[in-house]
Amino acid sequence: MGHDWPVDDVVLEGEKVRLRDWRPGDLRPLRDLLDPTRPWHETNGPYFGTPTAAAADSTARELTTPKTEPVDPRTSLAVCDLKDGRLIGRVSWYWESRQTDWRRMGLAIYDERYWGGGYGTEALRLWTTYLFARTDTLRLDFATFSGNPGMIAVGRRLGFVEEGRFRRARRWAGGVHDAVVYGVLREEWDRMTG
Ligand SMILES: CC(C)(COP(=O)(O)OP(=O)(O)OC[C@H]1O[C@@H](n2cnc3c(N)ncnc32)[C@H](O)[C@@H]1OP(=O)(O)O)[C@@H](O)C(=O)NCCC(=O)NCCS
Repeated sequence: MGHDWPVDDVVLEGEKVRLRDWRPGDLRPLRDLLDPTRPWHETNGPYFGTPTAAAADSTARELTTPKTEPVDPRTSLAVCDLKDGRLIGRVSWYWESRQTDWRRMGLAIYDERYWGGGYGTEALRLWTTYLFARTDTLRLDFATFSGNPGMIAVGRRLGFVEEGRFRRARRWAGGVHDAVVYGVLREEWDRMTG
């Protein structure tokens, strides 16, 4: 875990996407992408309810406000189309259990025009590699539900393992679904990407 990088901008590039630090100029496009009417809310933890416009606005402001002391590793990066720089989504992570060094990742391609084009898979691949490189964590995972075949396919495609399936744990107005968690161990990731 080095401490030589945090003040520099983080930029991670693949073939389709660039993951980079948030900028003040992202505020307008991000507000638009976070709008409660956008379809991504329908698969992104829909059981928690769609955030209000006010909550979306405050998230957009918080993400795009410059940090005086950026953290290492970053907790979130903007996902952009490598071709033209357009903001299309976000990667993130949070502590599932800080006490036991258990991090959980998040991924959303907010712009629905980009779905199914391989952008999510590449974004999660770059983010996973970055988090393993910037920490000494033994594992990384993400949580989703059986009603999100796209996210499950992303995990499978990257070699994540279905580690948990809580049958019928997501019951709400949208139906009854399983909660699922996909994870990968550091040595598995090294083997697959090395
Ligand atoms: C889920 C999400 C991240 C997937 O990213 P993506 O860029 O659309 O996915 P990719 O193009 O990389 O596709 C990966 C795989 O998922 C499949 N896939 C994508 N969307 C799918 C869908 N709606 N239904 C079934 N399969 C889907 C692709 O066919 C591909 O599978 P393959 O490798 O077998 O061909 C993206 O659609 C998204 O952000 N959706 C809205 C928010 C959300 O649900 N976030 C995740 C919360 S846990």
